[in-house]
Amino acid sequence: MRIAVPAEVEQFETRVAATPETVRKFVGFGAQVAVQAGAGLASGVTDADYLAAGASVTASAAETLAGSDLVLSVRRPAADALAGVAPGCAVVCIADPYGAQDALSAFAGKGLRLFAMELMPRITRAQVMDVLSSQANLAGYRAVVDGAGEYGRALPMMMTAAGTVPAARIFIMGVGVAGLQAIATARRMGAIVTATDVRPATKEQVESLGAKFLAVEDEEFKQAQTAGGYAKEMSADYQAKQAALTASHIAKQDIVITTALIPGRPAPRLVSADMAASMRAGSVIVDLAVERGGNCELSKPGEIVVTPNGVKIVGHLNVPGRLAATASALYAKNLLAFVETMIDKEKKALAINFEDELVRATLLVNDGAIVHPNFQKA
Ligand code: NAI
Repeated sequence: MRIAVPAEVEQFETRVAATPETVRKFVGFGAQVAVQAGAGLASGVTDADYLAAGASVTASAAETLAGSDLVLSVRRPAADALAGVAPGCAVVCIADPYGAQDALSAFAGKGLRLFAMELMPRITRAQVMDVLSSQANLAGYRAVVDGAGEYGRALPMMMTAAGTVPAARIFIMGVGVAGLQAIATARRMGAIVTATDVRPATKEQVESLGAKFLAVEDEEFKQAQTAGGYAKEMSADYQAKQAALTASHIAKQDIVITTALIPGRPAPRLVSADMAASMRAGSVIVDLAVERGGNCELSKPGEIVVTPNGVKIVGHLNVPGRLAATASALYAKNLLAFVETMIDKEKKALAINFEDELVRATLLVNDGAIVHPNFQKA
């Protein structure tokens, strides 16, 4: 069983799919692991670290991939880049399959298998494999750190001989995994924290973290959570009430962090240009939803926009990648936990159980076809 860890191709991708810790485990399962030279550098892992863990370090992508049964990566590699892998080779990554029919067909055409880690069901058994949670948690933390970094004042209240520094007010919009970590981080840094969401279950979570909850709690709010635990898209009427409630609140905030997402839909617009303009100069908005269309009307992917009234709107891409070493360590462990379920340790070989619900939920391409029901051509 040969496992390949090629270097990520996207320039902005700083993470890596295996760490010395996970390499050591794979080697223990009887695998030969090939890591492309330099693949871990942006995550603080040297080639020598991988060698010490039992991997071989290979000079080029082609050499890394040659003859492999399993490819581990962060982003989906191009099928064309996978020449030289064994037929039936499985690629496990964050596959970003929406709108990627041609890329999936290319995998099928080459007889490759493709697994999407982000489709892992959120059930107890698979919590250790949940890449959305492991990465969103770090993004929530980093959003507060980035917000604090852009803000020209201190976050905690300080009583000094030279005068009292007031605590910063931070408002978190969207209280999923990222939002909860943002609340906890902002509280630890001494800010006065409020938060909002459309799912009623979040109210208690917000309060248990010591923050104040603010939301339009009408009949629609009571029904806003789907059976899967996600938010529904709210009606225009609800959105108008929500905007009216939050507008006056946002005007008094120093930092606003937005994390709101709706599965399969563009991110909801929560902060209008007028709301941003109502904040005082030096305030900061961090938009974690910028890759999905943005929660703030003015945010731009990959940019820090400064409004005419001096409010900074931060739209960093790949926020988990801004904590590359930690994000890689957790992502690599998510992969290890999943891949371990597909290894026959006696035969020291890949043995995929196609009836397993985790395999069925994540397998996009198999045996020359797109097999996932959500991504088959109509
Ligand atoms: P997400 O990334 O899809 O969305 C982030 C947040 O935005 C959600 O809390 C959502 O309710 C909120 N939101 C959507 N529209 C909004 C609007 N118009 N205004 C304000 N907020 C809005 O969510 P994430 O982080 O993936 O979590 C979704 C659910 O999954 C949560 O209930 C979470 O607790 C649950 N979960 C369960 C796990 C498990 O059981 N293994 C693991 C991780 C999460």
